Amino acid sequence: MNKTIVILGTQWGDEGKGKIVDFLTKNVDFVVRYQGGNNAGHTLIVNKKKIILHQIPSGIIHKNVISIIGNGTVISLVSLIKEIKMLEKNNIFPRDRVYISPYASLILNYHIAMDLAREKKLNSSAIGTTGKGIGPAYEDKVSRMGIKVYDLNNLHVLKIKIKRALNYYNYQLVNFYKEKPIDYKTTFNELAESADLILSMVKDVPKILYKAIENKNSIIFEGAQGTLLDIDHGTYPYVTSSNSTVGGVCTGTGIGPKALDYILGVSKVYMTRVGLGPFLTEVFDEIDNYFFIKGNESGSTTGRRRRTGWLDIVLLKKAIKINSLTALCLTKLDVLDELQEIKICVDYKISNVNSSVKKNSFLFLYNTLENIIPVYEILPGWNTSTAGITSFDSLPILAQRYINRIQELVGIPIDIISTGPSRNDTIVLRNPFKV
Ligand code: IMP
Repeated sequence: MNKTIVILGTQWGDEGKGKIVDFLTKNVDFVVRYQGGNNAGHTLIVNKKKIILHQIPSGIIHKNVISIIGNGTVISLVSLIKEIKMLEKNNIFPRDRVYISPYASLILNYHIAMDLAREKKLNSSAIGTTGKGIGPAYEDKVSRMGIKVYDLNNLHVLKIKIKRALNYYNYQLVNFYKEKPIDYKTTFNELAESADLILSMVKDVPKILYKAIENKNSIIFEGAQGTLLDIDHGTYPYVTSSNSTVGGVCTGTGIGPKALDYILGVSKVYMTRVGLGPFLTEVFDEIDNYFFIKGNESGSTTGRRRRTGWLDIVLLKKAIKINSLTALCLTKLDVLDELQEIKICVDYKISNVNSSVKKNSFLFLYNTLENIIPVYEILPGWNTSTAGITSFDSLPILAQRYINRIQELVGIPIDIISTGPSRNDTIVLRNPFKV
């Protein structure tokens, strides 16, 4: 039986991973985040209450689960402390149940200032980042001038590192971006104030995971963002700054690929994206409004309205290959309930040319797709509510046909279908931990 499961997004994030992690966490020992930072927003509905998590893994909602923040993440301490306090107000106590890798990198106020200044200067060619300082924090990590969680142990060294970083960033902020400089004391105090609390949560993450794997404990590795936002495999440069695909699990936690038993790709039955960048199946006007309202498509981190579009099977197949997906979980089926017809993009073709770009191939430059148009298959809608349905056989025949068609096109099993935001609104065809 599977013990280590990865749950990651196959699209541009916001696929509903948080709910699925939460749903599968009942019998789990550990939930581990391996990349990203507080750019993520995982929305959970617990006892009819909405809880949005940004950095703490979704497992925290369950009392017996240990949540781990791995070395591949970037952490904003200000935001993490806020999240801890928010959970405590909701009678969830994370201090003893969240373990943080000492090698995770910190997001500081100058990273946020740089992120915002850059986006402002780029103006119409901006990326549309979440403005949380994610890119600059990862750049610091790679350029080897980043500040790591373990630096909180030595305030003297921390001071030197912050001064060095501020020399560099303030020069750019003031002279190039014409923004205000960042004050050293504010930066230092932000870290010093939370150092003790954070250090009390620091643990040797790989060692804990090796032991857990040896002991056959159940572990979920929880992805943030999605495959198409991956720094290497996404729609560059309109991507985030980490590896949100399956490789990030290994580099971001310290375990090897053979330790992963089952990889679940979460996909909405339509698509959304926040921020800029190519989106071939994007819709506008009434259909966009329909998805926006019925699917409640506003970003949980920034509140921005998400762009919406039809499901793109070409990209989904790419996500299946890149991540070696075992199976898919389809979410938000109920959002399609009132549509007369539903489109699925099954191929791309060059406009005015009567052939596919390259059948079943994803080796194309997505960013230069100006002449490429989607080829759609149109399926009839079912015009009945599927909200809250918990068994496949209870779905309207046309909804079953829609799901079967997706499965046929992608060639891997659909193991879970989500029919609403609550934990219970879920159809499980195969439980990943029981196969
Ligand atoms: P960054 O991660 O803030 O640098 O933003 C880069 C791109 O990724 C932007 O298009 C963001 O909107 C997008 N992005 C980052 N995190 C998420 C997420 O959790 N869900 C959806 N989009 C995200």
